[in-house]
Amino acid sequence: MGAAHAQAAPPDQALVEQGRKLAVAADCAACHTTPKGGAAFAGGYPIASPLGTIYASNITPSRAGGIGDYTLADFQRALRQGVRKDGAQLYPAMPYTSYTQLSDADTQALYAYFMHGVTAVDQKAPETELPFPFNLRLSMAAWNSMFLKDERFVPDASKSAEVNRGAYLAGALAHCSACHTPRNALMAEQLGKSFLAGGSVGPWFAPNITSDATSGIGGWTEAELVQYLKSGRVDGKAQAAGPMAEAIEHSLQHLPDEDLKAIAVYLKQTPAVNDGEARPRFAHGEASKAEIDMRGLTNDADAGWRVFSGSCAQCHQVGGGGNGVYPSLFHNTALGADRPDNLIATILQGVDRTVDGKAHFMPAFGDTASYADRLSDQQIADLSNYLLSYHGNAAVKVSASDVQTLRAGGKPPLLAMIRPAILPGGVVVLLLLIVLVVRRSRRAR
Ligand code: HEC
Ligand code: HEC
Ligand code: HEC
Repeated sequence: MGAAHAQAAPPDQALVEQGRKLAVAADCAACHTTPKGGAAFAGGYPIASPLGTIYASNITPSRAGGIGDYTLADFQRALRQGVRKDGAQLYPAMPYTSYTQLSDADTQALYAYFMHGVTAVDQKAPETELPFPFNLRLSMAAWNSMFLKDERFVPDASKSAEVNRGAYLAGALAHCSACHTPRNALMAEQLGKSFLAGGSVGPWFAPNITSDATSGIGGWTEAELVQYLKSGRVDGKAQAAGPMAEAIEHSLQHLPDEDLKAIAVYLKQTPAVNDGEARPRFAHGEASKAEIDMRGLTNDADAGWRVFSGSCAQCHQVGGGGNGVYPSLFHNTALGADRPDNLIATILQGVDRTVDGKAHFMPAFGDTASYADRLSDQQIADLSNYLLSYHGNAAVKVSASDVQTLRAGGKPPLLAMIRPAILPGGVVVLLLLIVLVVRRSRRAR
């Protein structure tokens, strides 16, 4: 172990181990460890935000590069209020709006782990430089005054201990809502009525996971939810790719079964949000006999079927029903949703999820360099329309420009799109917001 925080008392090993488990449940490594070989928690992972690249900090106990000089109080303030030791505001790419709910005991255990269980790395992470006005970290104070509910988790006495455990795990630690709750024009989670009702994560869409029977996960059994969170795959329902695969790979698969069950029990009783779909997204489509109908046709064959036959059928089988190893494309949420994002994102980025030491891999057909079978926007649109009409939600249609948008990383939020327009006005808005904050804190006194 490297030079740890200069503290006189020897570390309490049980507390350090408890902190390690919490860091896994909170998935601190998702952002603070760069994938493929970066030193644990040494930071530097570039998070592409619509406003520019935000680099995760080095949070090893190095005094030179990391958080070695953080006291417990500094650490708690970073996790719960989004404020750095030097007093500067953190950007909400660090999910402090979720971690704010963490208990004192859990922040103490996390602190013990980061000070005594992590190897110090002296190299500093690159500086984040966002364009004006977002480079003014103080603007985040205004944002926090509107969107940060600086409160610890309070158990709901009317609910069971298991539901409360699940709510704490999902809310304070695993920050499901950071992806599954839609964001407003200022990129804050729309808590309240839209809580867990589905949100975009780059080109992916984290679906509605409220208890609603058609729009949410009401039609999943608790056992299926546990299996999904543990393995990323439930035949006849869904497979996890993209950011959900990462959450499972780094964090959720390592949680004890009773914790995953608590999350499932909690999800099943969240307030239902219905988006008006006729059927659950896992209940669309059937096997196709297009292969038999179209084989041998050269000019008249459906363009999408041709791509399917050439690029997909060898794994997902000619009728699309899979074969046990490769999943079925009907009764699959990526194709039955009322938006095609996850189907297109899967084709572009593939699946790469290692669970319990075993890799689940589908090639990325949007890859520019490495895969010879790269598909164009038009080919992916044709393929998607073919798949949706036979195996999924036939009402959804995909155009080449839809694919182009997702290939470029998804639709930027309003804030990023209007940024050039608000440049002069933005300062005014910012000043107004700062006045608001000052007012608030005055009143609080
Ligand atoms: C979704 C990504 C993400 C996750 C998950 C995450 N962080 Fe962060 N964290 C960041 C980013 C990005 C920054 C830097 C933000 C900035 O520069 O404004 C940061 C900054 C920090 C800082 C401030 C360090 C400094 O002085 O610059 C601390 C402390 C921290 N994180 C601790 C944690 C801990 C502990 C966990 C797990 C409980 C965690 N983070 C999980 C993204 C994340
Ligand atoms: C980093 C973003 C992110 C986090 C954090 C996250 N999810 Fe997801 N989740 C997604 C995305 C994206 C998908 C779609 C994945 C796909 O189709 O391959 C998804 C899919 C799911 C699904 C499958 C839904 C369906 O109909 O296919 C469930 C269930 C789910 N997530 C539950 C959770 C729970 C519970 C948590 C917290 C413990 C969580 N997720 C945390 C992004 C996230
Ligand atoms: C080399 C085999 C292989 C090929 C070729 C292949 N896939 Fe897959 N596909 C997989 C595997 C493996 C999974 C994930 C299985 C798991 O999660 O356990 C998957 C999953 C999927 C999913 C569900 C992903 C999600 O996030 O919900 C879709 C949709 C899909 N494939 C579509 C396609 C399409 C369309 C093509 C052709 C462009 C294709 N696949 C080509 C192996 C393949």
